[in-house]
Parts: sequence; structure tokens; C-alpha cells
Amino acid sequence: MTEPNPKSESRSTKSPLQAPKGTRDFYPKDCAWRQYIVDAWRRVSIRNGFEQVDGPIFELLDLYKVKSGEGIVSELFHFQDRGERDLAIRPEFTPTLARMVAAQANSLPKPIKWFCTPNLCRAEKPQRGRLREFWQWNADVLGSDLAIADAEVIFVAVDFLQEMGLSPQQVRVKISHRQTVRHILSKLGVIDEKMDDAFALLDRRDKVEPIEFTNGAAKLGLDPDRVARFDQICRMKYAAGNLQAMRETIGIGDELSDIEALDKELISFGISEWCEYDLGIVRGLAYYTGTVFELHERTGVERAMAGGGRYDKLIEMFGGPATPAVGFGMGDVVLSNVLMDKGLMPEDVTPRADAFIFGATDLGATKVAALTAQLRRAGLHARFSYKTTRNAGKLLKDAATAKARYAIILDDGVEGGIVQVKNMATGEQVEAQISDLASGLWSH
Ligand code: HAM
Repeated sequence: MTEPNPKSESRSTKSPLQAPKGTRDFYPKDCAWRQYIVDAWRRVSIRNGFEQVDGPIFELLDLYKVKSGEGIVSELFHFQDRGERDLAIRPEFTPTLARMVAAQANSLPKPIKWFCTPNLCRAEKPQRGRLREFWQWNADVLGSDLAIADAEVIFVAVDFLQEMGLSPQQVRVKISHRQTVRHILSKLGVIDEKMDDAFALLDRRDKVEPIEFTNGAAKLGLDPDRVARFDQICRMKYAAGNLQAMRETIGIGDELSDIEALDKELISFGISEWCEYDLGIVRGLAYYTGTVFELHERTGVERAMAGGGRYDKLIEMFGGPATPAVGFGMGDVVLSNVLMDKGLMPEDVTPRADAFIFGATDLGATKVAALTAQLRRAGLHARFSYKTTRNAGKLLKDAATAKARYAIILDDGVEGGIVQVKNMATGEQVEAQISDLASGLWSH
């Protein structure tokens, strides 16, 4: 495994049967950490008015061939079932979401605001920030083409970052708009038929040698001056909340109308500080039609933490009525790296016990199971020791490992209904009636 879980308890004992590359085993601490992230995704989604959905872990292969784009299709894990149907493990959730909405679009109240937290698989080369199985939070708004919907999904992503303790000095939302870039390219002389090639070239800009970029641009019909202009526009970054600089560089015609509308809404949501316009953001997925955005950690050492945009044609392509849509996906891998690097990952998020019960005498031991059951029935997280000892110190260590708030020690006093209760934080020990344990003790 190239990228172990950040807080993994796993030891790298060599076994001939290892987990497949690019996957992770989730030992208790790892699972608790993943749950901590998923719980935060869910909490933020719900307070932003999103409803949870899910779909199958595999789909018909064709679903991804419609519009996900070559990048994703080449990374599919696919197989045939016994009926020789071609299937693929989900590499993203958007096609499933579009299929689900297309099937019931007329009966769903608009706007549809859905979230999910599926695990996804892509046969990528495992590297920092990219694995072959990961968890991804999706939040999508369907049924509105207003810029306020684009701004709302960006707000949801920012709301989550804030929830995790991140600041606009640490993470940036980089926004572009495919229509704006289309206008600029067309003004520079790229014809409509060459637009997709131009977007693909833009997407590869930082991955290819400058000469390859220039040659590619020449094939689009751009002379060197225009290539330089195109490159310059793509490399500029403009703060959100004040489009003056952008107007001066790009123009004041139709080009900026989409970004202007979005900018107003970002200001209203109070999140301009987190956002900047960067026309070099293209996004690999083929279905985006308008706003596209990515969340990046600002030092630039990590890959994108999240990415999304507007995809107004996908539901129609899946047989539904015309339904504009916008949303994003955020993976758990880069997010965990960023939180760990910034010291924002709590040391231990495994659940802590309310009570840890043990017998200190043979008579005490006979009552351990009954008291444990009584506390559990009362809704408390109660653990107990299978051991009995007169040396309470040893079992108090186990109570501390379980992060118990109280140790309950059963000695011969149980005959009269009395137990010893030790507050693990203060060390204070008092006697208590067994009958009182399920109530009073836990409220403070
Ligand atoms: P995506 O850009 O392919 O978009 O992925 C979004 C995020 O998922 C990435 O920024 C990254 O955090 C995470 N991610 C992607 N691939 C991997 C990987 N191999 N390992 C770990 N994390 C990864 C989509 O998936 C779109 N369907 C998002 C969307 C939803 N657009 C609209 N709605």
C-alpha cells in the first residue's frame, strides 16, 4: 500500500496474501477516523438542506461511457457477470445520480438537493493523494440553472472546510467557467469544432513541454501571439469579490457575464475570501457545461481536495427531462493528508466508554454481567473485564485504555448493593448504590 492510513494501527507484517495495491485496511482507529470524516460530511450536508441517497456499487459499463470522458473510462475496474453483461465498479457517483434523477425527475420536488458518501474505485497509479479505492462526498443541486445554485454548492464545501478548522489562508476554491473560456477562445480564433481539443490542451497545459503546448495551440489555428495571450489569460488568478482586474485583462463583453452572476452570489454567501478565478482550471470530466471548480491546499503540494461543476445536459442524456445540475465530489485521501499536515486531525476519535466494570472479588465477579447489561440497556457504553483481580491497578489500566469515564469496581459490597465508582479523570473514588448507577452518575 503506497499511502497507509494516516493513523493506521496496521503493522507491515509481510503476508503472501496482501490487500490489493492502492487499497487500505481499516483497523479500529482507521475506521474511527474515516467515520469522523463521514460524520462531518453528513452533518454539514444536512444543515445545508441536502438529503442522503446511495446507489449500487457496480453499474452497467455503458453508464460511464456516455459522458464521463476518456480519463475515467480508462481507469475502470470492469468485469462480466454470468449473463455476459458488461459491468463496472463505480469510479464516480455522478452518472448514478443522473440515472436516478432521470428515472424519477417528474415526481421529485425541485430543486433536488442530494448528498452521498460512497466508496469508489479507479484503477489509477497509486500515488500521494490518489488510491484505487477511496471515499468521496458528493453534494449536488439539480433543477436550477441559477448562479445561486453554483454558489450554494461552493458554500457547502467551504462550510465543511470551516467545520474541520481550515481557513481561507490554507485552502482555496479555484473557479473557472467553461462558457467564459469558450468565449475567450472563440475571440482568439478557435472555431467551435476545435473547442473540445482546446479544452483538452488546456487541461494538459502543465503536464506537457511548452513546445508541445505551442504546437497544440497552432493546430487549433492560433498564431504564436495568440498562444501567448491564451497562456497568459490561463495563468492569471483573480480574487473573487472584485472583478475589476479581470474585466481589464479579459474584456467587458459577454465573456464575463456568467462569472459576474456567480461572483454576486459568492459575495452574498460571504465566501469570496475563499475563492479565486483561475481560468486554467478545466477539469477532466467531459460532462461539465458551465462553472467548474476545484479546492486546493494553498502550498500546492497536494492534488485537488475536491472538484465539481455544472453539468446541465447529463440528465437529458440519460433519458430524463432537461434538468440543470451542479455539484462536487470531495475525496477522503487528500483531505486526510491536509488535516494531518495542519495538525487538525484529532489524535484519537475512537469511541470512549462511559463505564468499565470489573470484579475485584469472586462474589463481585458474579454480578459483572448483570450490571453491564443493566447499564447497556440504559443506553450507556459499558465495557467489562473478563478477568477478576484483587489488584485493581491492573484493570484500571484497561479502563484507561477504553478511555472510560468511570471504573466500576465490584467487591464483596455487591451483596448489599454497593459498588466502588472511580472517576477516571480525577481519580476520586466513591461508594454508590447499584440501583442508582443507570441514572445520576452520567449526567455530569
Ligand atoms: P473528480 O475530480 O474525478 O470529480 O473527483 C473529485 C475528488 O475525488 C478529487 O478532487 C479527489 O479528492 C477525489 N479523488 C478522485 N480520484 C481519486 C483517487 N483515485 N484517490 C483518491 N481520491 C480521489 C468527480 O468524481 C465528479 N463526479 C464530482 C462531481 C459531483 N461533479 C459534480 N458532482
